[in-house]
Amino acid sequence: MGPANAITQQRGEDDRTKSQYEKGVKQLIDNGLKKVPKKYIFPAYDRPVARNIEDPNDAKQNLQLPIIDFADLLGPCRTHVLQSLANACEEYGFFQLVNHGISNDVINNMLDVSGRFFNLPFEERAKYITSDVRAVVRYGTSFNQTKDTVFCWRDFLKLLSHPLPDYLPHWPSSPADFRHAAGTYAEETKYLFLTIMEAMIESLGIIEANQEKETKENDNNIVQDLKDGSQMMIANFYPQCPEPNLTLGMPPHSDYGFLTILLQDEVEGLQIQFQEKWVTVQPIPNALVINVGDHLEIYSNGKYKSVLHRVVVNSMKSRRSVASLHGLPFNHTVRPSPKLIDELNPKLYADTDFNSFLSYISTTELKRKDFLDSRRLTSI
Ligand code: OGA
Ligand code: NI
Repeated sequence: MGPANAITQQRGEDDRTKSQYEKGVKQLIDNGLKKVPKKYIFPAYDRPVARNIEDPNDAKQNLQLPIIDFADLLGPCRTHVLQSLANACEEYGFFQLVNHGISNDVINNMLDVSGRFFNLPFEERAKYITSDVRAVVRYGTSFNQTKDTVFCWRDFLKLLSHPLPDYLPHWPSSPADFRHAAGTYAEETKYLFLTIMEAMIESLGIIEANQEKETKENDNNIVQDLKDGSQMMIANFYPQCPEPNLTLGMPPHSDYGFLTILLQDEVEGLQIQFQEKWVTVQPIPNALVINVGDHLEIYSNGKYKSVLHRVVVNSMKSRRSVASLHGLPFNHTVRPSPKLIDELNPKLYADTDFNSFLSYISTTELKRKDFLDSRRLTSI
């Protein structure tokens, strides 16, 4: 036995399997795995309730999120739509965006190319494995792989996306159309994000609708800051799972930026916390799911809610999603808007920035709303 083998022997079975897990869930399934390994079994209180996605009665329990029509938002009914937008962000923290103007082709190409990326030979995907949470491209598995004690049933590819010309040359060059399809989708979601944020700032009463464009920007450079801000796309792949009631595709978490724009395929899996229960979001073909992130909760001084959500997996089908996370530039301070603070409405959150979040996640096992809770001014 050579020295390398001897070391493997000494470290025992557990470590050998551990490195197997780090290659991701798809790799396990491709190698014929038939049961959920211990490493992925969640404690009983975190496990999903058994569901049967083929049963139509089961689907009836799904949550219909509020629907916002993007075309209406830009039309004569804007005031009315702004009110619906505010209600959705206060009550659900989530809504479905329809008529968003991103063509079906761009949407389908994005989902398709990310699916094909996960179907590449493992060696090709493995080029992007890194433990650096700040890397331009990062392929990985679970939620926070270096810290998670229980692994999630998910593989992912994270891509820094704005400014696109800085990052695009570092993105995967295989599949051959990856950069084109994902780059187009990134640019279109960035535009969508900015337009929705302008509406949200208006719905929060921070900028009046009748203010001239120029004063808007002078008064409040948040729109400009968001234009220059960060964008990160995360393509998620949730392989089918032989025992879906024992594990999760993603644990309960909230998202950290201002808004997340989520593109999901037709397979359900996203659940949000609503009235203290986990409810499944019914996918709507070609709609985008938008949710409020921690930074928007802070900026709105608690008015708009960054809501816990998680992903359940199923035994029938794998599932793809692409989350596009948008926020301020990484080193920018995030604080409640001064326009929303007065004697009756004290400041509820400490100032923060994205870098402190990244340091936080690289040192802690992120659980639920830890980070947001750490920013809450509890003395009030
Ligand atoms: C996320 C997320 C949900 C999904 O990427 O933060 O919550 O359905 N994704 O993949
Ligand atoms: Ni999320």
